[in-house]
Amino acid sequence: MRNVTPENLTETFLSYAGADTDPRLREILTSLVNHLHGFIKDVGLTHEEWRKGLEVLTASGEITDHERNEFVLISDVLGVSSLVDMINSPEGCTSSSVLGPFHILGAPEIPVGGDMIGDNEGEQVVVEGRVLDTDGNPVEGAVIEIWQTADNGLYSNQDEAQGEYNLRASMKTGANGRYALTTVRPAPYMVPTDGPVGEMLDGTGRDAWRPSHLHFIVTADGLRSLVTEVFPSDDPYLDTDAVFGVREDLVMVYEKGHNKADLADDIVAKDKLADDFSHVDFDFILHKA
Ligand code: BEZ
Ligand code: FE
Repeated sequence: MRNVTPENLTETFLSYAGADTDPRLREILTSLVNHLHGFIKDVGLTHEEWRKGLEVLTASGEITDHERNEFVLISDVLGVSSLVDMINSPEGCTSSSVLGPFHILGAPEIPVGGDMIGDNEGEQVVVEGRVLDTDGNPVEGAVIEIWQTADNGLYSNQDEAQGEYNLRASMKTGANGRYALTTVRPAPYMVPTDGPVGEMLDGTGRDAWRPSHLHFIVTADGLRSLVTEVFPSDDPYLDTDAVFGVREDLVMVYEKGHNKADLADDIVAKDKLADDFSHVDFDFILHKA
């Protein structure tokens, strides 16, 4: 094209792609460039604003290392991570939700009914339920990984005062697909605000807070793996999660007034539970692979 204009630029860009371009790559680039050029025209983007955008990307690269990825965080706070997750998730099973950056491999395996409270302070809670397939069949031998913040809102890999695997465990479901554990209620926390994402949240008057949550990965033969998180129904940040991870079926009630004597025999830490412990009942429904 000898005379590139705002009107023909998008078509010109698309015409440069070779005939043997992978069809999916062509589809994605066509739509991306259509939206990108359309967006620039829509808002009448100025040089200064364009430069600011590039500065944001540069600063994101500079603050990113092997533990902290600002690009993932940008994707999270723009709702991109959640949208990709939602449009790729089947219906009829437990909703998936963001993995987040704090999962680590190698958490110790505990039995069904095992304890994660250890020396942790905070509201004690019994979490129990079943893993089922979409036909309602219990899934025995499913592997559940769980991780969460301590009462101070920090994960073990953010806090030198916690042991490496504090408040992290894995468990194989027993007969009837049962899982159960004792833990402490996780605390809400803020996504990192010391980089470009913090500036964006601040500039738009947005909360950096995430509602408190328990993270889970559930895997089982022949079933689709589930990465999800579950939230207490009384958390103050449920409606303003900075990364858009809340789904109605992932909100659970921390019930009070449960009688210790009514707990199943497999609850290992039954005797050390305070009388005002909370109780959470939550089933995971996995889709066929
Ligand atoms: C988390 O749940 O741990 C998390 C998710 C997205 C961004 C930051 C943290
Ligand atoms: Fe988290």
